[in-house]
Amino acid sequence: MDNHKSLFGIGLRREHYPYLIEKPNTDIDWFEVISENYMNTEGRPMSVLESIRIDYPIACHSVGMSLGSSKKIDSNYLFNLKRLIKRVDPFLVSDHLAWNDWNGTRLHELIPIPFHEESLEIIANNIDYVQNELQRKIAIENISAYFSYTSSTMNEAEFLKSLTEKTGCLILLDINNIYVNAKNFQFDPLDFIKTIPKNSIAQIHLAGFTDMGNFLFDTHAEPVHPEVWNLLEKSLDFLPKNIPMMIEWDENVPEFHTLQEELNKLRMITKSGNKNETKRTTEFVL
Ligand SMILES: [Fe+2]
Repeated sequence: MDNHKSLFGIGLRREHYPYLIEKPNTDIDWFEVISENYMNTEGRPMSVLESIRIDYPIACHSVGMSLGSSKKIDSNYLFNLKRLIKRVDPFLVSDHLAWNDWNGTRLHELIPIPFHEESLEIIANNIDYVQNELQRKIAIENISAYFSYTSSTMNEAEFLKSLTEKTGCLILLDINNIYVNAKNFQFDPLDFIKTIPKNSIAQIHLAGFTDMGNFLFDTHAEPVHPEVWNLLEKSLDFLPKNIPMMIEWDENVPEFHTLQEELNKLRMITKSGNKNETKRTTEFVL
């Protein structure tokens, strides 16, 4: 994963296993996998992943670390994640700014956290612990949320910025989540992006939301909306060059070629947005 062509990826979904196992020529540069789908398994998912890993770089994206929990991160979980990392040698490991561990039961949703000094301390400690255990930096993703806490003293972007300063962690910036939250909570999405330290941004997510009429719902069930493409284009000056970007599509997963077409849109937008760039680096560093 070390040249400028290796920038555009998609999420690996089981619906595409039969297609990918035939080793077709694709113009996908890399795949992101949901770590939990491949931890504790020696079955088909793992054998498909190992086959795909021969041809593509992989990023490991977790949903179950529960970094926002006030109790210690589950050591058994980390043990299994370490095993997966050893097997697939991902170029990036990430999870969300959220919690979902309810006394040992994993909730299906990523629950937001309040943004204040006390929660900052807790989550920074959790990230320190994970980074120490994994012996690598991890990237933290901003989530879509449908409620907020009156106890918050800062916004999510300021909170993420403080986390990078305290822990040296990286940021996985989800442009769709920023847009959804900006609409639902009425803030300027570009202000959010400008607040995140450019050199901490290690990966970009794009996805489709569903317009519920009185709010936007982050379903990952549709193509990326024009407003989100537009926000990405406006954000390019505030993002590192040659950063891995990908499309997430989790519900009503379409044929593989539809994702390739979405990825082509992404290629076009980043190319035109960077047209004034005369000198581009050929490597990015994680
Ligand atoms: Fe995301």
